[in-house]
Amino acid sequence: TTRTPLMAGNWKMNLDWKQGLALVEELGEQLKEVDTTKVETVVLPPFVDLRTVQVAVDAGKLPIAYGSQDISAHESGAYTGEVSGAMLSALGCTYAAVGHSERRQYHGETEEVTNAKVKAAFASGLVPILCVGEPLEERKAGKHVEYTLAQLEGGIEGITAEQAAKIVIAYEPVWAIGTGEVATPDDAQEVCSAIREALRAMHGDTVADAVRVLYGGSVKSSNVGELMQRADVDGALVGGASLKAEEFAKIAGFQG
Ligand code: G3H
Repeated sequence: TTRTPLMAGNWKMNLDWKQGLALVEELGEQLKEVDTTKVETVVLPPFVDLRTVQVAVDAGKLPIAYGSQDISAHESGAYTGEVSGAMLSALGCTYAAVGHSERRQYHGETEEVTNAKVKAAFASGLVPILCVGEPLEERKAGKHVEYTLAQLEGGIEGITAEQAAKIVIAYEPVWAIGTGEVATPDDAQEVCSAIREALRAMHGDTVADAVRVLYGGSVKSSNVGELMQRADVDGALVGGASLKAEEFAKIAGFQG
C-alpha cells in the first residue's frame, strides 16, 4: 500500500490547556524515537486547547498535525456555542472529526447533520475524519456491515470524487469504545474492507485505494501492531491511550 498510516488521538473532554500543552510537549520528546516520515500523527484536542497546540507546533516542537473533535455545520453567525470551519482552519487545523458515536448518541446528531458537517469541513479546507460504526445490538444481529455502510453513505452523500479521495473514515464499533474490548483484527478488517469496497463502487479505484480507513475502539500499543497488519486498516483513532505521551508515541511507532 502507498497509504501513509495515520494515528489520531482523540482527547475527548479531557485535559485543560495547560495539561494539553504538557502532553504535546512530552509527545514531541517521545516521537523522537519514531520515524515520523512513515506515519502521520494527529491530535484532536478540545477546542479550547487548540490555540496552545498551534503555538507549540509552530514553535517547531512537534512532528504532528492537529484537528478538532467536532465542527459546526453552519458557516458563521447566530449559532451560540458553535465553532466554524473557518475558525478551525485559521488555527492551523488539518482535520475535523465528524459524526463520532458520542456526538450521535449524546448530542442527537443525525445523518443529515453529519453530512452537513462533512461538507462544512471540506468547505473550509479541512479533512473530515468521518466516524462510523455499529452498536452492540447490530453486531449481535450480524448487521454490522450493513449498518456501518449506511452511515458511510449518509455521511458522504453529495461529496465529489476529489473530496472522497481525501476523506478519512474511522470505523469505531460502539461496543469497543472505552470498554477495553478491542475488535479482533479480523473484525476490524472485515468492516474496513467493506468501507473501502463501498467507496470503490461509488467513486472508483483511485479514490478507494487512496482513502485511509482507521479502526478505533480500545486501541493500545499492545494491540495496534496486529490491527495494522490487516490490508485495509490504515491507522487508528485512539481515545484513552492517546492521553499518555509515551503510550501514544508507541502507537505511532507501531511495528506491523
Ligand atoms: O475516538 C476514539 C474512540 O472513541 C476510541 O476511544 O480508545 O478510549 O476506546 P478508546
